[in-house]
Amino acid sequence: MEDYVRIFDTTLRDGEQSPGATMTASEKLRIARKLDRMNVDVIEAGFPAASPGELKSVQQVCEVVQQAQVAALCRTREGDIRKSWEAVKDAVNPRIHVFIATSDIHMEHKLCMTREQVLEQIRFGVSLCRELCDNVEFSAEDATRSDLGFLTEAFVLAAECGATTLNVPDTVGYTMPAEYFTITKTIVQAVPDNVIISAHCHNDLGLAVANSLSAIAAGARQVEGCINGIGERAGNAAIEEVVMALRTRHDLTGIRTRVDNTQLLNASRLVSEITGLDVQRNKAIVGRNAFAHEAGIHQHGMLKQRETYEIMHPEDVGFSDTSLVLGKHSGKHALKSRFSELGYDVDEADMPALFDRFKALCDRKKEIYDEDLHAIIEAAGDNAEPWYRLEQVEFSSGTNVESRAVATVRCGDRTAVADATGDGPVNAAIEAIKKATAAEGTELVDYRLAAITGGSDAQGRVHLRIEREGIVARGNDTHTDVVIASAGAFVDALNNFIFQQERARQRAGAPEPNLRDAGTGV
Ligand code: KIV
Ligand code: ZN
Repeated sequence: MEDYVRIFDTTLRDGEQSPGATMTASEKLRIARKLDRMNVDVIEAGFPAASPGELKSVQQVCEVVQQAQVAALCRTREGDIRKSWEAVKDAVNPRIHVFIATSDIHMEHKLCMTREQVLEQIRFGVSLCRELCDNVEFSAEDATRSDLGFLTEAFVLAAECGATTLNVPDTVGYTMPAEYFTITKTIVQAVPDNVIISAHCHNDLGLAVANSLSAIAAGARQVEGCINGIGERAGNAAIEEVVMALRTRHDLTGIRTRVDNTQLLNASRLVSEITGLDVQRNKAIVGRNAFAHEAGIHQHGMLKQRETYEIMHPEDVGFSDTSLVLGKHSGKHALKSRFSELGYDVDEADMPALFDRFKALCDRKKEIYDEDLHAIIEAAGDNAEPWYRLEQVEFSSGTNVESRAVATVRCGDRTAVADATGDGPVNAAIEAIKKATAAEGTELVDYRLAAITGGSDAQGRVHLRIEREGIVARGNDTHTDVVIASAGAFVDALNNFIFQQERARQRAGAPEPNLRDAGTGV
């Protein structure tokens, strides 16, 4: 293949560090499958030393990923490294990703180490990784605020100890494109040609994608980022933007990626659905308005010749022309082929359940749009056995009557029924669920409702967050009835709370602190 840039996706690790974006193990698997199908080169699945649950979830990612490399992050400590290897050793293509900070400010205040001690850690850590795995990435955290001479020394040493990829993180999103070019070029020239140089840019100044492209111009051949640009603070470089910039301006760069760009929109929707982090309407590549032409003069030009105002086609990233697709007379075959046009490779065994959901939706809604089909697939993807399951919710309300709801919730192996009144039917339903699940102390801290298609029979998508015992958990659900969607989202959040509670318990009992406790700022 011609000169290409490897795409290293860290949605499951750095992306998960976005406030409120904690994912369950099964949600991570759904995203990992998508990334693998989309042909990203490397999937960073997590930080196994954080907790036994995290280690297990990385192992599960390794089980489902069929072709991409799977990386696990670790510090240069022996315990971390061995856990990372334990987590990825059975992957089809395992990688260990080891890091330590190299900037004076991090070495002095966080690590409390001298330059010599940090070099010693690199020698120890990278050599041990290399004894375990022949695919080793080394990252110099806060590289862009490090002394360039020392940074180069650190990278040359890591390459001598066997690192096959050297990553130059702009950890705090501080660098300007021209500066990042110089740093990257210096490293490219200092290490052997067979070592891949990688860019990892945070978006604090809105420069993550620009910096990544600048690094490519300087010789970097791996770019790290997240779908929708999610990640710690202002996020990481948006994978979809990097991929489409290289594709659209191939005339200038002569460089491609291996990513199937037609799956970018699906990946974006999946990540947004799972994390509850909305994609802004005017977001490049995957925002709802990214290909919408409003001004008359633009529309006129477009009708005559698309290229007048269009540098990419919407279908290149997965938007489809057909908005109205199916209805209650459509059969299983039509549904399957529409799923495949939308980029979903649906297993024959999953079709009956998907078709049942589709038919149930047709009973409530005359016209089924692509957006509805995305929602069906996304809702069906989560096969985890939840602790709470909403069996039924009945409610009444009106202009002159008090809102009242009765909720039936399956809690593990018993069923609980409770009723409540409230300020509107959503409030009544949530109060009834709280009673049924003994979750009275739970506070609703965020509630968002959006119609996923047009029309008064549109499905409503509810995203909400609850807070309980200091843990913030999110939930979401879609239904043509917004009260039922709200009740489903609340129950989803309760399940998410249980997951996080267990994770917090594991982390507290884990022998080593997690990334955030360590104050690494990654
Ligand atoms: O931003 C950062 O420095 C990181 C490294 C751990 C790669 O995420
Ligand atoms: Zn990072």
